[in-house]
Amino acid sequence: MNLFDVYPLHNITITRAQGSRVWDDQETEYLDLYGGHAVISIGHGHPHWVQRIEAQLEKISFYSNSIRIPLQEELAHLLGKVSGKQDYQLFLCNSGAEANENALKLASFATGRKKIVAFSKAFHGRTSLAVAATDNSNYRAPVNETDHVTFLPFNDIQALHDHFKDHGDDIAAVIVEGIQGVGGIHIAENEFLQAIRTCCDTYGALYIADSVQCGYGRSGKFFSHDFAGVDADIYSMAKGMGNGFPVAGIIIHPTIKPKHFQLGTTFGGNHLACAAALAVLEVIESEQLIGQAAMLGQWVMQELEKLAPLQQVRGRGLMIGFDVPEVLGPLRQQLLTKHHIFTGEAKPRVIRLLPSLALTKDEATQLIEALKEEMTT
Ligand SMILES: Cc1ncc(COP(=O)(O)O)c(C=O)c1O
Repeated sequence: MNLFDVYPLHNITITRAQGSRVWDDQETEYLDLYGGHAVISIGHGHPHWVQRIEAQLEKISFYSNSIRIPLQEELAHLLGKVSGKQDYQLFLCNSGAEANENALKLASFATGRKKIVAFSKAFHGRTSLAVAATDNSNYRAPVNETDHVTFLPFNDIQALHDHFKDHGDDIAAVIVEGIQGVGGIHIAENEFLQAIRTCCDTYGALYIADSVQCGYGRSGKFFSHDFAGVDADIYSMAKGMGNGFPVAGIIIHPTIKPKHFQLGTTFGGNHLACAAALAVLEVIESEQLIGQAAMLGQWVMQELEKLAPLQQVRGRGLMIGFDVPEVLGPLRQQLLTKHHIFTGEAKPRVIRLLPSLALTKDEATQLIEALKEEMTT
């Protein structure tokens, strides 16, 4: 049987990893500033994470959600503490798309409405409603087409107000990334997120903060939406939550009341996933990784700004993007093949940095030196 060929691949086989380093089957070492697509939050193979998963495996790895799973309660408690959203309620699932799918569905249940507002360049995942709210028609099959989703221009407060004025009573939810990831690292301005909060309050809609990529401390705050000083009704989370173990979830404002069977999952919140997610939060707390991401990210951006040919350095914490001018050629490819540094990309010419929050200054310096070399050759 062949694999279904859905991705263009680098011809590299990674066989082991530690911290922000990965090695291929030829023992070539790479610096990982991509984190397997923003997934590696506390570092590859963190010993505490390995130990907690191993210890859990010895006991029980899975049982269904038909029984009490105290690890879920422990996770909800710690997540509340670390995120500062103690009074929210946690629903666990398995992936970012599933988290957003549940968030949107829950908003529709809670409001009794059908209309969703999303924004230009948004990416919310590949399941049916999440992809319908994703601003890329290539990802949508005919069956995903719906007139329930309206795309408004990102960061355009006037367009938001105008749309709510005309359609506010039909809108179930606004879904927005605090920092657009796949769209190319674009920050939602504080005033824009505040305007979303105001419109949702005025018209009885729910504010869904897609924090799948920009959440879990990556931005230098637990949720990048926190920069705006307003609370969302639902936050979706995934990537960094398990440091590579598939686990995701939504946290839900206390005013939204649960009803049995509206949401559900077989695998979500299993024992092993909870152990992985708990280990991540414990390390984020004990190693103060959120503060570290904020500080190191600022330094990296300052250094990048000094590299004149790079354009529009932007981001928060360790979610950084910059535009690569044509004259620099295939810079991302050069970083990988010549300097052995993995980075992410966004079309047409954006390099995205999404490293582990435990990245060191020495490791970040390796990127800056490599870029300087590329600028002078
Ligand atoms: C902002 C955002 N939302 C949702 C998703 C979908 O997550 P997943 O691939 O885990 O379904 C992604 C994935 O890149 C994302 O960046």
